[in-house]
Formats: sequence, C-alpha cells, structure tokens
Amino acid sequence: MTTQLFWDRIAPKYARKPVDDPDAYEEKLALAASLLKPANRVLEIGCGTGTTALRLAPYVRHYTATDGSRAMIGIADAKLDQGAPANVTFHHADAGELIAGAPFDAVCAFSLLHLVEDIPGVLAAVHAQLEPGGLFLSKTVCTKAAAWPVRALIPTLTTLRIAPRVTPLSEGDLVRFLEDAGFRVERAMQLGKKRMSPIVIAHKTG
Ligand SMILES: C[S@@+](CC[C@H](N)C(=O)[O-])C[C@H]1O[C@@H](n2cnc3c(N)ncnc32)[C@H](O)[C@@H]1O
Repeated sequence: MTTQLFWDRIAPKYARKPVDDPDAYEEKLALAASLLKPANRVLEIGCGTGTTALRLAPYVRHYTATDGSRAMIGIADAKLDQGAPANVTFHHADAGELIAGAPFDAVCAFSLLHLVEDIPGVLAAVHAQLEPGGLFLSKTVCTKAAAWPVRALIPTLTTLRIAPRVTPLSEGDLVRFLEDAGFRVERAMQLGKKRMSPIVIAHKTG
C-alpha cells in the first residue's frame, strides 16, 4: 500500500511538526467537544499520531482511534504510557475497515478524506459503523479551492513523494459524497486562515 509507505516514512517528522494554525485547531477541538456526549463511543479514522484523540477522549465514554500507518500508530501508542486518558485505544487499520466496538455514536475523520483512494468505500464503512442518527464529523482539505499554481503543483509534489496522493475536492463535491453515502449534512464551515479545509457536521440518516 504505497500511500501508507508515504505516511510511515514521514511519521516521525509529522509527530514533531507544530500544529499549523493553533487557534483553528483549538476551535476544532472545542466544536468537537461540544458535539460529543459523555456516554458516546467514538471512532476516529486516520488519527495520525493520536494528538486529537487524546484531547477529545476526556469528553466521551470510549475513544477508538485508527490509522493505516503502523508508524503513526506506534507513536500514538507510545503516548499511552505518558499519563494519557485510560479510555483511548489505538489500532492499525485502514479507514475502510470495520472496527471491533461498532456501532459507534460518532465517527471523526480529520484531514483524511481527501487522502483516501476510495472515498465512497470509506464513507460506506463509516455509515455501517454508526448508530442510526450518529454523528460524522470531518475536516477535509478541498484543493479545488486553492489558487491554480498550487493545484498545478500538487501532482508533481506527489510524484516526487514530497506530498501524498490527494483527490481534488470542492466543498460541494464533499457534500455530494456524503449525501450519496446516506448522510444528512447539517453544517459545513471554515475555521482558521486558510479557508480550504471545511469542517462538516453530518448525521447518518435513518
Ligand atoms: C494529514 S494526516 C492527519 C492525521 C490526524 N488526523 C490529524 O488531524 O493530525 C493523515 C493521516 O491519515 C492516514 N491515512 C491516509 N490514508 C489512510 C487510509 N486509507 N486509512 C487509514 N488511514 C489513512 C495517514 O496515515 C495519516 O496518519
């Protein structure tokens, strides 16, 4: 799985990298915390090194976080020895896999959907693992909103293995993917300076 080789290779650097826009990150956490409930069982897919999982776990009953990169999960797991909340578990898994513990009350996917090769497949797995009416909270980079020189550069950066493979998306594309997968999109909003990564609040219909 070439995508995961990319993430395995950059995991240590990713773990050291400071958060891009700290105010927007804190706003995202506050929004997520306000939507989650203390009784919730939560799944986060594409959790990276687990930073967000460890911040959100105190707000819920149990927080399962998965990532397709063994190196990312290794770094996340090491944080569990350092006074982390006791209700978090990390697992190596593709975002399209069904995870033990389903159904969940909420699924989160932060900076992930634009990176997966099969968006409908991942959304079908999210849908299958949610309780009826369950929350899907995502933040997704929509490169169609970027200036054309940036858009033109992305394939070259991918070929050079400087950037991962990215599906070009607009906010409208994202909403359509979600609706086609059986979600009701409640709200899409932009946090932070870049205005390129909408947060979408959606619920499983039915
Ligand atoms: C940009 S990082 C985001 C990490 C974390 N969610 C955050 O917000 O910091 C993308 C993560 O998605 C993971 N990833 C990419 N494709 C994946 C897939 N198909 N299944 C599971 N994880 C995937 C990568 O391993 C990486 O950890």
